[in-house]
Amino acid sequence: MYKLLIRPIFFLIKPEAIHHLVFSMLKIAFSIPGIKQLVNTFYQVNNNKLKRELFGLKFDNPVGLAAGFDKDAKLFDELAAFGFSFIEIGTLTPKAQPGNPKPRMFRLPADEALINRMGFNNEGMLAAVERLKRKKSKVIIGGNIGKNKVTPNEHAVDDYVKCFNTLYSYVDYFAVNVSSPNTPNLRALQDKEPLTALLKELKAINAKKPAPKPILLKIAPDLTNEQLDDIVDIVNTTQIDGLIATNTTISREGLKSTGVDKIGAGGLSGKPVTNRSTEVVRYLSEKSAKTFPIIAVGGVYTAADALEKLKAGASLVQVYTGFIYEGPGIVKNINKGLIKHL
Ligand code: FNR
Repeated sequence: MYKLLIRPIFFLIKPEAIHHLVFSMLKIAFSIPGIKQLVNTFYQVNNNKLKRELFGLKFDNPVGLAAGFDKDAKLFDELAAFGFSFIEIGTLTPKAQPGNPKPRMFRLPADEALINRMGFNNEGMLAAVERLKRKKSKVIIGGNIGKNKVTPNEHAVDDYVKCFNTLYSYVDYFAVNVSSPNTPNLRALQDKEPLTALLKELKAINAKKPAPKPILLKIAPDLTNEQLDDIVDIVNTTQIDGLIATNTTISREGLKSTGVDKIGAGGLSGKPVTNRSTEVVRYLSEKSAKTFPIIAVGGVYTAADALEKLKAGASLVQVYTGFIYEGPGIVKNINKGLIKHL
């Protein structure tokens, strides 16, 4: 139904415009009494085989919504009804910022992919906190944090610390994002020295909190094996809780779509990143001898995709582009398929 009827209509509208329109439509629909329960009953899959316990959190199933979809924490309660066991809000920055000029999100239907150069458009951490205070569902919330574009890398730590402290009471785990290709120089923070310093600082602050929150690091798929080795070292030395692999790629290799050059810069997501993202998960899992959990993200559309990521060493998966291409039934389909194979 979604792929045959709804998606073709959605795809007639500009990607960012339909994103906001769907948010408004869902808000209205869910304000009708009983709708949330109805959606929940239809999409939720309850089975003990799906349950996971990681870094002190209990996940009802291994499928979450990746960062960037609900950047400003506007729709997490409604999205939870579609079966996600966890939703990562953000990337949030201390101050609101507009992001890059539009157009900045592009569909590549021939590749079942997207290219985006949103540039951390968000209403800022305080606006998100106000919405998180009104959370109704039990869904696990990840707070994906970054730095403002105007903040130079020498002061990046301050931005991450501000976001960490402000969101601390309202999220269940943190995702430290140093891997977006759309904020100038952000990915330089993935280098060993600045990254170790950043994570050590966050760990030190976390240790002083009454109940420390899990801290995960989100990495790019474009890192070399040597850089991935560094990442494993950094996780071990800083003792953060795990990794999220991967963000979007700057590669354009193997695309079938025409006119990709004209789109320009941005991160590629969806089917074309599936294999690379799995490769990264497998490499990290083997190199670390599974000493820390990995959340796999990148081109998960089906139960088979999710299973491949889990077999490669992931403990959980997240979806973004698959949600756009497969529609609202994606979590249910993945979970039903996983039950047969777990
Ligand atoms: C993203 N992604 C992302 N990641 C992140 O850490 N912070 C962010 O703000 C965003 N924003 C964002 C916007 C758009 C339009 C897309 C398509 C993606 C990356 C996302 O969370 C995920 O890591 C990648 O897209 C790979 O997964 P999929 O999309 O192939 O399932």
